[in-house]
Amino acid sequence: MPRPRVLSGVQPTGALHLGNWLGAIRNWVDLQDSHDTFVCVVDLHAITVPHDPSSLADDTRTTAASYLACGMDPNRCSVFIQSQIAAHSELCWLLNCVTPLNWLERMIQFKEKSVKQGDNVSVGLLDYPVLMAADILLYDADLVPVGEDQKQHLELARDIAQQRINARFGTEDNPVLKVPEPLILKEGARVMSLTDGRSKMSKSDPNEGSRITLLDPPELITKKIKRAKTDPLMGLEFGNPERPETDNLLGLYAILSGKGRTAVAQECAEMGWGRFKPLLAEAAVAALEPIQARHRELMADPAELDNVLAVGRDRAEAVAVSTLDRVRSAMGFPLSR
Ligand code: AMP
Ligand code: TRP
Repeated sequence: MPRPRVLSGVQPTGALHLGNWLGAIRNWVDLQDSHDTFVCVVDLHAITVPHDPSSLADDTRTTAASYLACGMDPNRCSVFIQSQIAAHSELCWLLNCVTPLNWLERMIQFKEKSVKQGDNVSVGLLDYPVLMAADILLYDADLVPVGEDQKQHLELARDIAQQRINARFGTEDNPVLKVPEPLILKEGARVMSLTDGRSKMSKSDPNEGSRITLLDPPELITKKIKRAKTDPLMGLEFGNPERPETDNLLGLYAILSGKGRTAVAQECAEMGWGRFKPLLAEAAVAALEPIQARHRELMADPAELDNVLAVGRDRAEAVAVSTLDRVRSAMGFPLSR
């Protein structure tokens, strides 16, 4: 039996933060032994909003190095760069032509991001979820581990595969595309901003104090945690809807210290912020230290990183091209290659 396949990716826009790690990348690391795991840096997605061409390539490499530094092992998984495989763009076009416009217009992320772009919203931003569907469907992925914010996009990928491709161009016994399942683990699925416990930690928040990035030096991590928003109450608890910041910081401590929620709830039940914050800072620094050390090593050896990415690209391309051929053929194109 082949191992079930996993596909996921993160955009190379800005430094990865605790939300990306705990909501997505950490789960990939756990899956790579039991699953045939493909992870990519989705650089084509990064240009759906205005971007800086002079930093795109470097950001893409740094992000790939972060995957490896977090524990993705090129001997057990494939790490690659989306734009190096033309099949992503080509399948996106084929899917575009069968995806109803109104499915895209109701995507929450599009609505949120397009407000920020005013009159300059690109077609690419609207089309973002179709490219993401192409990423996933090309690999016949069984599972897609992502944070909760990506659930709607995954449902779209399923609908496109099932209703628009398989139902029209396949048969019940011989579906064209595999319909993927989301994998959203509860713990870490939504890491919230340090400055507002009601909005998620995000790369695009203009306030850098709202997020801890994987490469923040220890002093900066400590400073950001010291300044994190809290409330005036004594005693820390999970699950109080009036105290979203408390829930978030306590949740982070439970994961980063490795102690888990039950132990942490007990440990911190009587604590005030003055005692808690240094503990959280220490746990965050200790959890990120090995990632940062490995990241420095990887960035110091560009040939090694190139090599890992070339191997990943070759493995990914072999799978992607064969799926693309299936779709081309089902839609009536003669296979030219
Ligand atoms: P993005 O930062 O939007 O490129 O997201 C990359 C991955 O990280 C996706 O799987 C997201 O679901 C996940 N992610 C992003 N922000 C958070 C967050 N604040 N909490 C949990 N997961 C997140
Ligand atoms: N849209 C995803 C995000 O913002 C990134 C992404 C693009 C992705 N293609 C994907 C995630 C395929 C999983 C699978 O996080």
